[in-house]
Amino acid sequence: KLKIAIIGSGSTYTPELIEGMIKRKDALPIEELVLMDIDERKLHIVGSLCQRMIQASGMPCKVVMTQDLDEALKDASFVLSQIRVGKLPARVLDETIPLKYDLIGQETCGIGGFFKAMRTIPVMLHIAERMKELCPDAWLINFSNPAGIITEALLNHSDVKMLGLCNVPYNMFKSIRETLQLDHPSFTYVGLNHLSWITSIEQDGKDYVKTALEMGLNSETMKNIPSSGFSKEVIQMVGAIPSSYMEYYYYNKKKLNLLKEAELTRGEKCMQIEEELLGIYEDSELHSKPELLSTRGGANYSEVAISLVDAIYNDKQEVHVVNLLNNGALDFMEDSDAVEVCAVIGKDGAKPIKVNDFGNRHIIDYMRMVKAYERETVAAAVSGSEDAAMRAMLMNPLVGDYNAAYQCFQELKEAHKEYLPQF
Ligand code: G6P
Ligand code: MN
Ligand code: MN
Repeated sequence: KLKIAIIGSGSTYTPELIEGMIKRKDALPIEELVLMDIDERKLHIVGSLCQRMIQASGMPCKVVMTQDLDEALKDASFVLSQIRVGKLPARVLDETIPLKYDLIGQETCGIGGFFKAMRTIPVMLHIAERMKELCPDAWLINFSNPAGIITEALLNHSDVKMLGLCNVPYNMFKSIRETLQLDHPSFTYVGLNHLSWITSIEQDGKDYVKTALEMGLNSETMKNIPSSGFSKEVIQMVGAIPSSYMEYYYYNKKKLNLLKEAELTRGEKCMQIEEELLGIYEDSELHSKPELLSTRGGANYSEVAISLVDAIYNDKQEVHVVNLLNNGALDFMEDSDAVEVCAVIGKDGAKPIKVNDFGNRHIIDYMRMVKAYERETVAAAVSGSEDAAMRAMLMNPLVGDYNAAYQCFQELKEAHKEYLPQF
């Protein structure tokens, strides 16, 4: 029996996932869909729309709404997790407090992302633990952020079968295919989540990456990043096409100023969009995903998630970019490092594709430095060691300074204390 559970289903993104399931209803004969959220209001508003969408599609699928995690997990085949511990107000704290210390305030990068990891890892480890008892064979597909660090934590501190997901690689590929007018290129994509590059673009034995570098080609534009793009010089100097999250690193000061000048943070904007969306979702005549949802940064995330479920369920042996343990794919990373790379997906999960003769020293060194940050971050999350937290901060290129990091850490720790059981 194919049962899918969505943990954090009160997210206004959920109708997008449902749309993806409806699109693939023949390949994925879902018999039971459980929507689980701890927020009763959002569970019901979003859940009712999902229910109407499924009914209208004619899918013979039972839809259950619950606030009970165990009920959702029991005998599930796939668990999709999209939780946001502390919800958007916690994100706003991650975005605003660092600015006082001249540090980037962002959802997944820098010290803001670090605290998101601190809040999310304990809850995700709990979900993994419950899965072991209630659905030990299920796949956990996680897009809760910071997705790479969550993968690093779960795959090294639990024995759940899981893959981490992000829409950035999908959007980069799509935009490059469109700009270069290629219909079946294969890409070399290397990195960590939200720290990644494309280093080769090949179609019919021809490498198009030179063309891309000469053009100074920028890949995706994400709705959530006020993007100014990379200059041609930067792209050529790096020798690869960076994801737009690299703007926080390569143009750190400029980004910091933009964040400081902004009237509202991204999280505050998302709170407005969310309320507006909930108002629209409440209309019982609505049976589909409204256009307003496309103003969020999650474009195509449903395609990414549901096509992955399809590839596992139907043993498709397709290539997807996922977050998983390196296991030799990149010989310059440890086997136990979670990385974001291409992998072949089938019923037994994901086999990372080995990248041979990788020669971009800048990327190697950058990935190793940020992985050192991520490893210490996971150590801090599971142990509550403030020394590990500070070592993490010193390794993060967006933080670095001990005094700023220490004071900002203390303030964020206080602000988030109800969600930080480890400290
Ligand atoms: C992209 C990223 C996600 C991130 C989202 C933010 O989709 O890949 O990891 O959470 O943007 O979008 P938002 O609309 O919440 O700012
Ligand atoms: Mn992402
Ligand atoms: Mn061809």
